[in-house]
This record gives sequence, C-alpha cells and structure tokens, in this order.
Amino acid sequence: MRISVLTLFPEMFDALKHSIIGRALEENKFILDIHNIRDYSKDKHLKCDDYAFGGGCGMVMTPQPIFDCINAIDPERRARRVYLSPKGRRLGQDLVTAYAGLGHLILLCGHYEGVDQRVIDLEIDEELSIGDYVLTGGELAAMVVIDGIARYLPGVLGSEQSTDEESFSNGLLEYPQYTRPQTFNGLSVPEVLTSGHHGNVKKWRLEQSVTITKKMRKDLYRKFTARNGKESGKEK
Ligand code: ADE
Repeated sequence: MRISVLTLFPEMFDALKHSIIGRALEENKFILDIHNIRDYSKDKHLKCDDYAFGGGCGMVMTPQPIFDCINAIDPERRARRVYLSPKGRRLGQDLVTAYAGLGHLILLCGHYEGVDQRVIDLEIDEELSIGDYVLTGGELAAMVVIDGIARYLPGVLGSEQSTDEESFSNGLLEYPQYTRPQTFNGLSVPEVLTSGHHGNVKKWRLEQSVTITKKMRKDLYRKFTARNGKESGKEK
C-alpha cells in the first residue's frame, strides 16, 4: 500500500520514524511519501495562504499549490483522496480496515482556517474527522490514520502482536492484561490467569470484556447484545 501526505509541515511526520511504524517503513511494508505543498506554489514568495473572502480572522490555504501537488502525485485519479477535517465522517475501526485494503490513499492536511472549498469540491473524495474536537491542523489526524491503517498491513505487526483480540475487533473492549510480578503493591493477578486452564482463561476474558464494555461504552454493549444475546458473556 502507498500513503501520500500533502502538508505544509512535513517535519511533523518524523514522529512516524520510530517504533513499529518506523520499522515497517524501513522494511518497506508500506510506502509513505510526504509532500510539501509549498514546493508547488507558483507565488513568487511561495505563499500558500490568503485572507478569507467575506472577512473573518485567520487565513485560508490557496487552491493552486494543493491542486498542482495532488495532481502530480495522482495524475490518473486512481487514489482515494481524503481531506482531514473536523467536518468529516468520523473515523472508526471499520473505516481503518477499509482504508487498509486500498492501493493508494492520499491524505490532505489543512492548516489555519482550512483549505479553499474548491479544492474539496474538485479534488477530494471524502472528508475525515478523527473526533469531535478541533486540532490546529490535519497533521496529527493524518498520523492517527496512518498508524491505525499500518497495523492492518501484512507483516507490520509481529506474531507476538495481533489485531485479533484487541478492542473493537469483536465489538467489545479488550479484557485487562497482567504481567510479572504476580503481586504488585498488594494487588495480585487474578488467579484464573495463572491456573494454566485455557478454557477458564478464555471464559474469564470474555466476561471481563463484556463487563468493561457495559461500564465504559453502553453504545457498543447494546450492539453486542443485539447481535449475540445476553447469554454470550456473563454480566455483572
Ligand atoms: N483538523 C482539525 N481538527 C481535526 C479533526 N478533529 N479531525 C481531522 N482533522 C482535523
């Protein structure tokens, strides 16, 4: 898979050079190309923003550099072109896995008051939000999307890490995890986890998942019981 990012702040994406995503990029598990929108500006001072028509404070990103940049990257318009914006469709696990199946994804990051509407109307397939709050720009949102997608690409997670039993994979939040020492500051690991009885461990984990989901996310819990019936996990 190829992910292309259009941004005025390419250095921000250095954050992805570390840990699991950094290793995946080094090993070419996916391609990430970061494009500086300013490189495409035809303004003599390489300006990429201007005052908003109609007034108001804040600057708007001008269409020409974005238009030229996006069409240089995707001249045949084969990629899915996404603009990060608080006005967009809300990101969830379903969308993350759908994006992970694409050949080429383009992420356009806005800054200041956003981009000229004609860029969205002419060049963008969908607007995407990572939550109901406003960030100073789309860069952090784009990194959230890239990290979320990369975990679903072949070979990115090692065999010891898996997306199989994590939160949202079965519509439930994940059960609690414990490691050594067996007792820490007076709190012991639940006995069932050290019993060696795989069936009981599995049952306990499902019960925990159901209980935690019911407590933390009533919306997910309702969907889960509608799909599976109340008997599928013991309630507390
Ligand atoms: N840009 C600013 N806020 C955003 C958000 N919540 N999601 C995606 N992009 C954004």
